[in-house]
Amino acid sequence: MDANPVLDVDNIYKSFRRSGGVGGRLGSVVEAVRGVSFQLATGETLGIVGETGCGKSTVARCVAGLTPVSRGSVRVDGTDLAALDRKGRREIRKRVQIVFQNPFLSLDPRMSVVDIVTEPLRIHKLGSRAECRQVACATLASVGIGQSELDARPAHLSGGQRQRVAIARALVLDPAVLILDEPVSSLDVSIQAQVLNLLLDLQQQRRVSYLVILHDLAVATQMCDRIAVIYLGEIVDEGAVRDVLTRPRHPYSQALLAAVPHLGEPVGGGQGERLIGGDATLAAMDMTGCRFRSRCQLGRGREICAEVKPPLRLLENGERVACHFAGS
Ligand SMILES: Nc1ncnc2c1ncn2[C@@H]1O[C@H](COP(=O)(O)OP(=O)(O)OP(=O)(O)O)[C@@H](O)[C@H]1O
Ligand code: SF4
Ligand SMILES: [Mg+2]
Repeated sequence: MDANPVLDVDNIYKSFRRSGGVGGRLGSVVEAVRGVSFQLATGETLGIVGETGCGKSTVARCVAGLTPVSRGSVRVDGTDLAALDRKGRREIRKRVQIVFQNPFLSLDPRMSVVDIVTEPLRIHKLGSRAECRQVACATLASVGIGQSELDARPAHLSGGQRQRVAIARALVLDPAVLILDEPVSSLDVSIQAQVLNLLLDLQQQRRVSYLVILHDLAVATQMCDRIAVIYLGEIVDEGAVRDVLTRPRHPYSQALLAAVPHLGEPVGGGQGERLIGGDATLAAMDMTGCRFRSRCQLGRGREICAEVKPPLRLLENGERVACHFAGS
């Protein structure tokens, strides 16, 4: 592990209070993130994977400083986000940028492409109008957006072009960390590969670190150095891609992988969908023992799984796994 990680996330929790609802749920608390810790080194890519609603975007928003954590700390270049005043937070925002899940919604439809990418430079007062425009144009060129698209509105761009503009807007401040929330999932398969290659090239050129949220494990194998698997707001498996995605130790990682047979010999006899069956909402309400147990064949009938929450254990290969039986 890097002695000076660019990003150090230590035991973060994030709860939301539901302000509405029916059936007595009024005012109930959702614990979206529960004790998540990880580090990110310069130029490294960490992938975060897991089912819908497991807390991936909430982790991203906490790390980007867009929402305060309920507990724990997020350190960027050693500085705790919670300790910063308004000016400090503005400065640190330059170091951590985010490309949101849906580029169509995150780009202002009234602004031209060049204005969208110039805006962050203007907000941070990083030069005259002409200088900011020049940097924006150079950044747009580096993501493959040419002169002819500079004055276009987002609605007139293709999905791939919109994502390139969103990436340019995030990169224009020269961040140390770029958070990418499902960067290719909204794109056609043929365009996905182009955007993926662009991201890999940009990382080589800029030594930027990526924290990337993904549903698609095939994309994760192409993009990531390490993977963190999140289940119900907690990391249950984290390690090098070659370990987590080729020899998964946690039953949940095995199930995720088995649902993608083309990635290799499916674990569990290709029964991924069946292994991963069960209801995560029901599992979320049960706080005793292992929270994956109602969906886990390995733990079925085992007393320890019902009674003792498995800690995140460090295995000999450097992987961290929250399962009583993984690696044994
Ligand atoms: N602002 C909010 N207020 C209340 N609940 C929220 C809020 N944001 C997220 N949640 C809840 O927190 C949980 C995690 O949501 P989050 O968006 O982080 O999941 P996700 O893993 O990114 O899902 P997806 O893959 O669908 O994008 C969900 O139960 C969600 O309903
Ligand atoms: S601790 Fe038990 S229930 Fe949980 S994943 Fe491991 S075997 Fe399954
Ligand atoms: Mg999300």
